[in-house]
Amino acid sequence: MLNIAVAQPHDINAMLALDALVTGAPPRQRSIAETVHRQRACVAYINAELCGFLLLHEHFFDYPFIELLIVHPLYRRQGIGTALMRTAETSVVSTKIFTSTNTSNAAMQQLCTQLGYLHCGTLSCLDEEDPEEFYCKYLA
Ligand SMILES: CC(C)(COP(=O)(O)OP(=O)(O)OC[C@H]1O[C@@H](n2cnc3c(N)ncnc32)[C@H](O)[C@@H]1OP(=O)(O)O)[C@@H](O)C(=O)NCCC(=O)NCCS
Repeated sequence: MLNIAVAQPHDINAMLALDALVTGAPPRQRSIAETVHRQRACVAYINAELCGFLLLHEHFFDYPFIELLIVHPLYRRQGIGTALMRTAETSVVSTKIFTSTNTSNAAMQQLCTQLGYLHCGTLSCLDEEDPEEFYCKYLA
């Protein structure tokens, strides 16, 4: 059964391991740990296994911004990314929420569109080979 919760310090090691497995990027220990300590990270568990997590911050021109969303490859297309995004949306007090992803990331763009996010811009100078696409959702 899927269980979504605000991440706690004891989740950090599993989040780092999933981040490394999926992105292969240098460890984001500081940003993951800081977001958890600010109570702005959500985790998704199935039984005892971490199957996804989301990081949120609130300093994108004073609006909430979903900074990272990761679902374990074995658990994709089961609604876990959707559930984490919806949890983030309901956790903020704001009229809008933002996120972004690379142009090449069709899965995340499709997820955003399906959840009612509007494409609101492209930033080409971060990664010139693969620009960043920005999305905004108006919250009720
Ligand atoms: C993007 C990601 C978070 C989606 O998570 P997920 O749990 O598989 O998403 P969901 O099951 O909630 O999918 C919801 C919808 O998103 C879209 N979607 C998800 N994966 C897709 C894919 N590979 N191709 C096309 N559309 C996709 C579909 O519209 C899907 O609805 P459907 O299954 O009814 O067709 C996941 O693929 C992932 O972790 N990718 C690697 C990390 C990443 O790129 N993160 C986003 C940038 S921070």
